[in-house]
Amino acid sequence: MATSNSSNRGTNFISVFLYTLLIALVGLFSYLAYNSFDSKKSASSDSTAVYIQPDSNFTHVWTAPSEWRMMYLAPEEKELVLYGKELIAHTSEYLGPKGSVRALSNGMNCQNCHLQAGTQPWGNNYFAVQSTYPKFRARSGTVEDQVKRVNDCFERSLNGQALATESKEMRAILSYIKWLGTDVEKGIAPKGSGIFKLKGLKRAIDPVKGAEVYAAKCQSCHQADGGGVLAEGGHSYTYPPLWGSHSYNHGAGLFRMSNFAGYVKYNMPLGATYEKPQLSDEEAWDVAAYVNSMPRPGKDLSKDWPDISGKPFDHPFGPYVDPFPESQHKYGPYKPIKEWIKKHKKSKS
Ligand code: HEC
Ligand code: HEC
Repeated sequence: MATSNSSNRGTNFISVFLYTLLIALVGLFSYLAYNSFDSKKSASSDSTAVYIQPDSNFTHVWTAPSEWRMMYLAPEEKELVLYGKELIAHTSEYLGPKGSVRALSNGMNCQNCHLQAGTQPWGNNYFAVQSTYPKFRARSGTVEDQVKRVNDCFERSLNGQALATESKEMRAILSYIKWLGTDVEKGIAPKGSGIFKLKGLKRAIDPVKGAEVYAAKCQSCHQADGGGVLAEGGHSYTYPPLWGSHSYNHGAGLFRMSNFAGYVKYNMPLGATYEKPQLSDEEAWDVAAYVNSMPRPGKDLSKDWPDISGKPFDHPFGPYVDPFPESQHKYGPYKPIKEWIKKHKKSKS
């Protein structure tokens, strides 16, 4: 008897407790719902705002080492680092079609894509290069060192030829990349390095919508024919080309939609940053679809992806291990492909 009584009291206590908890939760949820509704309302009523609130996670972003620290370098090393930086910023002066050292690239500068000489957070910077190379890359199916990776960009992004490993120019570029990796722990890609991974759209990305974005937000600089504007003297570009014979080729990183979209989201139109983006995610994806559907130089890719199961979801050239066509790999929707890849990777191991 006594036992059943005390257990009754126990049940009563539990139900009172649960009831109170329920009321507290209802209160909390209605508070949250009201607040999110409220913030949506105020954002949409301000129809002129182009500023998109970045997610609050954009803190502690990595930055390049301060230049004054170069005084700790040996003088020859410092000179090499500075020459490397100069080559990244003004590649074409030295290695372009009219280059003073050698003519082996298309007239673009590394900096056209690796902004601020490869130091801009999420501006395709080099913060993680020293810490993560050599590394295995599925595209070549080999462990790549930095020389190989730099020459990938010479041969693809600059649609040119490889720079000799022993050349002063290659050594300078590598010294500069090493300098930018000062204090980055081995194996770590610090926050803000490379290109931002933009969330995918549910629908296929749309070159027709992208053409409208292009006309409104890109064309004034990159031109209607995508050819950009040459600087005085014709050595490099004031506004670099986005397609056509002087642009990156089919084998380049930017030819992948996710790279292009992530790059422009936080860097274009010129002046946009991760703190002050100017494009919605949809605009970034659709303009990628438009630009990467225009003509550009080709490249023999027959040696790429020796193991085709390593191809990323948005690699636009078959064959694939999955059943999706090239057009879906190029324009999406990507979600079914990503899910297929995830599922089959798991079952393999
Ligand atoms: C047309 C744009 C473009 C140009 C010009 C360009 N790159 Fe790149 N580069 C890229 C993209 C995009 C990636 C990232 C590709 C990826 O993640 O798949 C990249 C990646 C790299 C990486 C590896 C970064 C990492 O974290 O793994 C290095 C190193 C590099 N580039 C060096 C250079 C050098 C040196 C030059 C000039 C000779 C150059 N790039 C010119 C677009 C470009
Ligand atoms: C105000 C001029 C301006 C506008 C507008 C602009 N860009 Fe750019 N863009 C530049 C400049 C300048 C660079 C090279 C940056 C450097 O060298 O520091 C560049 C570089 C690029 C690159 C990498 C280099 C290349 O040629 O492949 C891409 C991709 C790009 N812009 C895409 C876009 C897209 C897409 C838009 C529209 C959403 C856009 N840009 C709007 C000026 C502009």
